[in-house]
Amino acid sequence: MNLKQMAGIEAAKYVEDGMIVGLGTGSTAKFMVDEIGRRVKEEGLTITGVTTSKETERQAQALGIPLKSIDEVPYVDLTIDGADEISADFQGIKGGGAALLFEKIVATYSKQCIWIVDKSKMVNKLGKFPLPIEVVPYGSQQLVHLFEEKGYAPVLRTTPTGDLVVTDGGHYIIDLHLEVIEDPIALGTYLDQLVGVVEHGLFLNIVSTVIIGGENGPETIHV
Ligand code: 5RP
Repeated sequence: MNLKQMAGIEAAKYVEDGMIVGLGTGSTAKFMVDEIGRRVKEEGLTITGVTTSKETERQAQALGIPLKSIDEVPYVDLTIDGADEISADFQGIKGGGAALLFEKIVATYSKQCIWIVDKSKMVNKLGKFPLPIEVVPYGSQQLVHLFEEKGYAPVLRTTPTGDLVVTDGGHYIIDLHLEVIEDPIALGTYLDQLVGVVEHGLFLNIVSTVIIGGENGPETIHV
């Protein structure tokens, strides 16, 4: 079985009747949403989904999963989402799919957060994966210059056809090529205070469980 699919199916087992469930974005989360959709249809599972992107919303709607927006629920019981990198101390980089802002909002209001990954995403230190920064279009070039001066090797994200990527929130993405992030907390604090930065892809002290797809089956780590 595909390792992402393995992690997605395993995570869907944590979903119980009556839960409000945050539905993540990306190729791994897609398998989890498919499995929840199957359980809704075949097992009569009753949940309310809160999606983290238009892409996941379309998928969940097609599967018949009842949905509410994050503003229509009091909280989220459990969010299941993918990740781009997870460090040895369970900090993460997300946003490879440009959904980091909505993903972080939903995760922040969730009682529990499960990340689902294949084993290639587990690293010692974060930073090999370019760190996505979601920015307001107005002044974004100034932020690119600022990040260049800091030596962060910024690249404004474009589509395969060369258009600028625009997020579901109407923002641009700047990817920082850092190679290694020695102090994610300090970097996150610095990025948080920059004018024009809407959100960054460092997801710190957020995850409660990690499910890793590997050749010997899924491994579940409670953080
Ligand atoms: C989207 C994300 C994704 O969860 C992350 O990019 C992992 O994606 P995939 O499961 O396709 O590898 O953060 O913004």
